[in-house]
Amino acid sequence: MPKVALITGTTGQDGSYLAELLLDKGYVVHGLKRRSSSFNTERIERVDVHPRHPDARLFLHYGDLGDMGSLVHLIREVQPDEVYNLGAQSHVRVSFDVPGYTADVTGLGAVRVMEAIRIAGVNCRVYQASSSEMYGSTPPPQRETTPFHPRSPYGCSKVFAYWSAVNYREAWDMHVSNGILFNHESPRRGENFVTRKISRAVARIEAGIQDTLFLGNLDAVRDWGYAPEYVEAMWLMLQQDKPDDYVIATGEARTVREFVHAAFAMVDIDWEKHVQIDPQYMRPTEVDALIGDASKAREQLGWVPKTGFTDLVRIMVDADRQLLEDERMGRLVRIDR
Ligand code: NAP
Ligand code: GDD
Repeated sequence: MPKVALITGTTGQDGSYLAELLLDKGYVVHGLKRRSSSFNTERIERVDVHPRHPDARLFLHYGDLGDMGSLVHLIREVQPDEVYNLGAQSHVRVSFDVPGYTADVTGLGAVRVMEAIRIAGVNCRVYQASSSEMYGSTPPPQRETTPFHPRSPYGCSKVFAYWSAVNYREAWDMHVSNGILFNHESPRRGENFVTRKISRAVARIEAGIQDTLFLGNLDAVRDWGYAPEYVEAMWLMLQQDKPDDYVIATGEARTVREFVHAAFAMVDIDWEKHVQIDPQYMRPTEVDALIGDASKAREQLGWVPKTGFTDLVRIMVDADRQLLEDERMGRLVRIDR
């Protein structure tokens, strides 16, 4: 019998890569998707065959992390072996505008998933998408034992979810693991996260359809990895006999300014002629530097990052140049089903 996985946040960057990874490994994959007034399944369209097709192994279900009933019904119905809780209001700046909603979906949502598993009486392993944002103002390098000091409603919500996951593990003997993932990017990154905002703008400026890129703090330091490699780490955590918590990071520190410089350099354009600072992108409290120490994951999971900073920037800029070309040629078709 193939293993069965349930992914919340399957329409997001990580959820789409994880669905592909698990399908490649022979899993049957169920994904939670929330109702939206426009299409939100674009990232998984390439693997989403019609549910009545005999080869179908990916099934999407309406539900919401704010809606306990939908989670209980779904878990009861699909009887997963593994649950990956990736769903979240995941934008740090936006979390200052919608703190209550962020706490509900990103924080309490994790509790709803774990409680739904208990109510449904399903014996499964759980991955909780924790975040380096929990370290906040605690100086780098950050590892599993580093104290948290979150600097946003998003960070606070993730700390609550992290400790809830630990508590379900200790109180109910559940196999729950936290992946403390540092920033990871890809051509599927949402367009309002800084790396994708930059790579998309570079393609548009090169094509002459945009002149200025407005950004906030260029001095922030991040440890940027490549998302498809990070979902492999999620899977590895759930293959361990014992649940545990792991930092996943490259250890390579770069500023936002360095990302801008590298991305514009790839198309031979002077970034300083096109980038302006807009205070609306500054945060009330900023996280100055996140640099992870993933030694534990290397030693216990055998996980190592493969894609370095320059290759990551190239992958993203090349993909956005290609996307723009496809859009201009009218090559993109949205699949309606
Ligand atoms: P993402 O692209 O923003 O995806 C978030 C997913 O959550 C989307 O599928 C979204 O649905 C879904 N979602 C939002 N609100 C929901 C709700 N109320 N009910 C159900 N689903 C909901 O995020 P990501 O980059 O893939 O990250 C995946 C997870 O890892 C998130 O929990 C994030 O906080 C965490 N994380 C990410 C990073 C990173 O660098 N990417 C690092 C550490 C931790 P729609 O598609 O409909 O919006
Ligand atoms: N989004 C954005 N937009 N960020 C900007 C901009 C801008 O115009 N200009 C500068 N920045 C700076 C932010 O202030 C931050 O210091 C840095 O770029 C990275 O911002 P994001 O790409 O939005 O990512 P993040 O680090 O805040 O959060 C991401 O990583 C976390 C893990 O550390 C998200 O994916 C979170 O969900 C994730 O948990």
